[in-house]
Amino acid sequence: MKIFRTVEQMRAACRASARPLGLVPTMGALHEGHISLVRAARAQCDAVAVSIFVNPAQFGPKEDFSKYPRDFERDRELLQREGVALLFAPSAEEMYPAGATTYVTVEGLSGRLCGKSRPGHFRGVTTVVSKLLKIVQPDAAFFGQKDAAQCAIIRRMVRDLNLPVEIVVCSIAREPDGLAMSSRNAYLDAQQRKQALVLHRALLNVQELFQRGERHASTLIAAGLQTLAEPAVRLDYLEIVDPDTLEAVENISEKALVAVAAFVGSTRLIDNVVLGVSD
Ligand code: PAF
Repeated sequence: MKIFRTVEQMRAACRASARPLGLVPTMGALHEGHISLVRAARAQCDAVAVSIFVNPAQFGPKEDFSKYPRDFERDRELLQREGVALLFAPSAEEMYPAGATTYVTVEGLSGRLCGKSRPGHFRGVTTVVSKLLKIVQPDAAFFGQKDAAQCAIIRRMVRDLNLPVEIVVCSIAREPDGLAMSSRNAYLDAQQRKQALVLHRALLNVQELFQRGERHASTLIAAGLQTLAEPAVRLDYLEIVDPDTLEAVENISEKALVAVAAFVGSTRLIDNVVLGVSD
């Protein structure tokens, strides 16, 4: 596995790479969810590039940018073992040279779900992802369904800007007890780790009610909220939206995304489930 710190070196290596080339963008602190993306990329592509970049542009001033978990050596070893060909790990200065003032924004969608409580977050994501796509020029890029809003926004950006890349969304990797894998789970102590399971429980309750025939979003949300009403949990949102537009749906006739975000202690966790699909 070759490691690159500059845009110029990474671009040259990607140009010379075997094709199809798959890209897995990450912020490091890798877990099984990331590894499943790498494996999906390896299954579909002849070479895989991974980026590790804790992107300052997607963190708000009061968010966890400085304490976000970082362990480059561990990540490097994991990726090496997974057969990754190219690892891009630039500095913030390399990605955003002094005076950089250009952003990519997907209007509308970027203000929904996490975008409501994290203003500017999705602008930071779409800006860095579009830069990574320009640098690597992959045939396919792989993202996790756990960040369902991020996936919808990236799909829209790629469509609107005619970017020549396939966006592949891989299913949520879960711990055996159902907790969605996340680098931020590392912040939870043992008690919070148990309390965090309520997010998944709430989604399962909603899903079960849906499977029993309930189609009114307000009734489904009420059931989910009841499960989430625990003193240790501070809800950000529980919404049922169209998976492509992220707009609220009232009566579910097709696929619908049930998305939740909540704080357990000071750790903000997200999870989701898609209704109306068999898996
Ligand atoms: O999902 C993430 O880890 C990040 O938002 C991404 C896509 C790597 C962009 O920084």
